[in-house]
Amino acid sequence: QPLMIAIDGPSGTGKSSVSKAVARALGVGYLDTGAMYRALTWWCLDQGIDLSDQAAVAREAASYPLEMGTDPAAPSVSVGGRAIDAQIREGRITAAVSQVATNLQVRALMRDKQHALMQQIASATGGVVAEGRDITTVVAPDAQVRILMTASEEARMARRSKELAVEAESTRSQIVDRDRIDSTVSQFHTAADGVVTVDTTTLNFEESVEAVLAIARG
Ligand code: C5P
Repeated sequence: QPLMIAIDGPSGTGKSSVSKAVARALGVGYLDTGAMYRALTWWCLDQGIDLSDQAAVAREAASYPLEMGTDPAAPSVSVGGRAIDAQIREGRITAAVSQVATNLQVRALMRDKQHALMQQIASATGGVVAEGRDITTVVAPDAQVRILMTASEEARMARRSKELAVEAESTRSQIVDRDRIDSTVSQFHTAADGVVTVDTTTLNFEESVEAVLAIARG
């Protein structure tokens, strides 16, 4: 039975780096579902598609040529053979991604695609760590291990500002406003039934990884 680990939470909790480290420690694959929404956003903008045209964006979601590299030591994202790992982290994508992610037709397609990818990765590597906003509740509610990573707003803003080398306050819109919009379609601020909360406010990176591994190892 492959080990399925689902990790949700808002940005700035350390979710991505912890998920990758946990996947490496367990020797299993890694799926960054946020990167899939980011890649779709990049693709639509590149194709000149108006993100407010929900039907047009949903059509692209069904057909965009996405390839996810799921090795946790070197995860990668490309569309149509073009690597867009750096591009999808740009501020213009971060600012636009929620508009794509609140498109319900897009979410239904992503749910199916992500569920299938998790199965594929898990059967190839013996397991998978998938992270996002709705993995524990919608994409893989059947995962054996389901974790919600949280942290105080101050801690999350401080982490993001360190990452981007900018003032903490200037990350407020990226962190708080994006969460508010994302929260309208996914529930990732409080743990659903059966989901274990890991609050990383006072934990460093290693402690956060250990906390998740301890839960995964039961
Ligand atoms: O995790 P990351 O910040 O890269 O996610 C980018 C965006 O993708 C989120 O702000 C959210 O709009 C969307 N997302 C989502 N569901 C997921 C993962 C990400 O709606 N499972």
